[in-house]
Amino acid sequence: MKPNQSALTKLILAGMALGALLLGGAHSALEATNTQRFCASCHERDASYKEYRASPHFSNRSGVRAGCPDCHVPRPLGAKLARKLVAAREVWAQVTGAIDTPEKFEARRMEMATREWDRMKASNSRECRSCHVFEAMSAETQKPSVFKKHVDAEAAGKTCIDCHKGVVHNLPKEYRDPDEE
Ligand code: HEC
Ligand code: HEC
Ligand code: HEC
Ligand code: HEC
Repeated sequence: MKPNQSALTKLILAGMALGALLLGGAHSALEATNTQRFCASCHERDASYKEYRASPHFSNRSGVRAGCPDCHVPRPLGAKLARKLVAAREVWAQVTGAIDTPEKFEARRMEMATREWDRMKASNSRECRSCHVFEAMSAETQKPSVFKKHVDAEAAGKTCIDCHKGVVHNLPKEYRDPDEE
């Protein structure tokens, strides 16, 4: 009985060690692909990075910065993994040079932005809300007209991306604000 038991124990321990190793590997891969530097390694060649560097999310009076993954990569593990799988297409698009000139980037911007809007709409702008919450907006310091907009928006079940498109990047030239039509 005894020798068997210890073999089983060893097997379990070995299994746990292997599991930890694999999980550790997956975890560091997730971490490594979640840095601004990783995104910039491709995107500093296109407009997205330049526009970001000129936006208040890069530099502002409070010195709090949002990086690319803060807005584009979900934090909950399931959603994060799903997004990473979809993002594998970006590697392929990079290899095939889908956006490697300003002209190609602009030609694809509407399509890319629309996919991003759909994701944000579907998640109720979850990534925006990891930093901004309606409840934390101050009635004293936010302009009254804007504060009212936000209170009404919350009540009407609207989400950030409904009103704040183009908060970092230039809007696609094909985009038309529905309120202006
Ligand atoms: C290997 C190069 C590469 C890396 C690294 C990379 N991207 Fe991309 N990304 C691309 C390419 C190429 C496209 C254009 C995809 C297309 O044409 O469909 C793209 C498209 C996008 C889009 C538009 C999404 C869509 O559905 O069309 C977003 C947003 C984006 N990238 C954000 C990021 C963020 C955030 C990171 C870092 C976590 C990142 N990218 C890392 C190459 C890359
Ligand atoms: C990592 C935290 C973070 C995330 C995520 C984030 N923001 Fe911000 N946002 C900030 C900070 C910090 C400022 C600048 C505050 C200041 O001016 O001191 C800001 C400023 C703003 C402003 C006012 C300045 C401007 O550019 O008009 C708007 C609007 C805004 N954010 C909307 C959004 C939306 C929409 C999203 C999601 C797509 C988002 N934010 C995601 C932190 C964040
Ligand atoms: C019904 C439309 C609407 C919705 C929904 C909405 N906003 Fe706004 N927001 C505005 C308008 C209009 C302004 C003032 C003009 C501007 O800065 O774009 C504004 C301004 C802001 C500002 C700047 C405040 C200041 O004092 O400078 C921030 C930050 C902001 N919104 C964040 C958000 C976030 C985050 C969400 C989602 C939780 C959100 N908003 C949802 C309409 C909206
Ligand atoms: C504060 C949130 C925020 C940050 C930070 C941010 N983005 Fe975006 N990004 C958006 C939103 C929102 C869209 C959808 C289109 C729009 O409204 O401008 C978008 C769209 C894009 C697109 C599609 C093309 C386009 O112009 O619409 C790419 C590519 C992209 N982002 C890459 C990046 C990269 C790379 C970084 C970091 C250098 C970054 N983004 C930082 C919010 C953000």
